[in-house]
Amino acid sequence: MDKFVVRGGNPLLGTVRISGAKNAALPAMAAALLTDEPVILENIPQVRDIETERKLLTAMGAEVELGYGRAQHRTTICCRDLVKPEASYELVKTMRASTLVLGPLVARMGEARVSLPGGCAIGARPVNLHLLGLEKLGAQITQEHGYIQARATRLKGARVVFETITVTGTEDVLMAATLADGETVLENCAREPEVVDLAALLNKMGAQIEGAGTPTMRIRGVEKLHGARHRIIPDRIEAGTFLLAGALTGGDLMVTACEPQHLHALLQKLEECGVKVRVNGESVRVMGDGPLRCTDVVTQEYPGFPTDMQAQFMALTTQAEGASVVTENIFENRFMHALELVRMGANIKIEGSRAVVRGRTSLSGAAVQASDLRASASLVLAALVADGETIIDRVYHIDRGYERIEEKLRGVGAQIRRIGELLPRRTTAMAS
Ligand code: EPZ
Repeated sequence: MDKFVVRGGNPLLGTVRISGAKNAALPAMAAALLTDEPVILENIPQVRDIETERKLLTAMGAEVELGYGRAQHRTTICCRDLVKPEASYELVKTMRASTLVLGPLVARMGEARVSLPGGCAIGARPVNLHLLGLEKLGAQITQEHGYIQARATRLKGARVVFETITVTGTEDVLMAATLADGETVLENCAREPEVVDLAALLNKMGAQIEGAGTPTMRIRGVEKLHGARHRIIPDRIEAGTFLLAGALTGGDLMVTACEPQHLHALLQKLEECGVKVRVNGESVRVMGDGPLRCTDVVTQEYPGFPTDMQAQFMALTTQAEGASVVTENIFENRFMHALELVRMGANIKIEGSRAVVRGRTSLSGAAVQASDLRASASLVLAALVADGETIIDRVYHIDRGYERIEEKLRGVGAQIRRIGELLPRRTTAMAS
């Protein structure tokens, strides 16, 4: 298993280019199941979850070309001859987002068999709202032997009200509704940029969706969708992670090829902390030359402060003057990184869904363990300001969602290296 060895103390200086959003690319790849024509997706990030999704689609008989190059990361997916509408336990257990194939499969093939994902390091994360939504559209859903079985001759448009806002739940039901007979109204939808990006792709494929980015979406079902070409939006969480790294290390860092509007909640918090933030077109520059001030954050659905930035923000608060309160409202168990930060010298007390961080403690390098994707990023940030060497174990979590993070960090002056088995770089994977 790979580890990162990080030596702290260097301010990050320079420019980092942001990759495409993993959480937009995954539903976009699943959307290709809705048509028998090729779907071309550009700006695909080179991360492990994309490779898992490629495996998932090829196991069903899809042709997936995935090419990573200096200028372009692209996939072409053709789901003309699907043979097996199934997502196996082997793949779903490594990536919960595999459940995104459920809606498209039942809409296009009339059946789907998808493993139940089970619990996760950050919370129980049930998929009941995906299932309730699909049932409203007329799918018959049964569960046995750890699998969800969904069947429908043709889905029928309906009104679906999500009891809780769910990102992939909204995406799953949205995809199914595009091929349903008649109109579907989805209420209390997720408004995340990744949902809006998916709706944009679906509309390019011939879907009729209105209201993406608002709580209510209206979808007029069509008989058939066709192929399309689409560029995936920049990864706002990767961009935010680098901005925090720049601010935390007292650096001067510019992130480029990002969408500053998607970063609004984070940029506001950075300014509250005393970090200078400059936005220019698709770039954001942070200058962390003054002392950091404590700030409270509460995670919320978009446009609120993202839960996927909470762990990294907590690393910043360990170096801010005074006490910051970090409240996690989306997932019930997303403080695993706090325990590792404490091992590095942070002063953090967990009280239910709140973490009270008393800042300006000096951190010292230690052997720590990553428990999930964003927790790993938080440990990398802490290691960048810790005294001495930090060894971060289980970095396979970070490889799921950050493209070449250690190379990008080294490019702006961080001392970080990977030890253990290396990932293949700049390869072209072709599968049919
Ligand atoms: C998406 O997960 C993201 N994943 C997560 O990214 C992100 O943390 C999360 O949204 C919240 O923003 C992808 O987009 C692939 P939810 P998702 O359904 O859709 C409850 C990362 O680090 N819920 O919006 O699975 C659920 O338990 C990650 O990249 C139900 O109760 O999250 C949670 O409390 C990890 N029943 C809340 O809703 C359901 O059927 C929000 O979860 C579905 C969800």
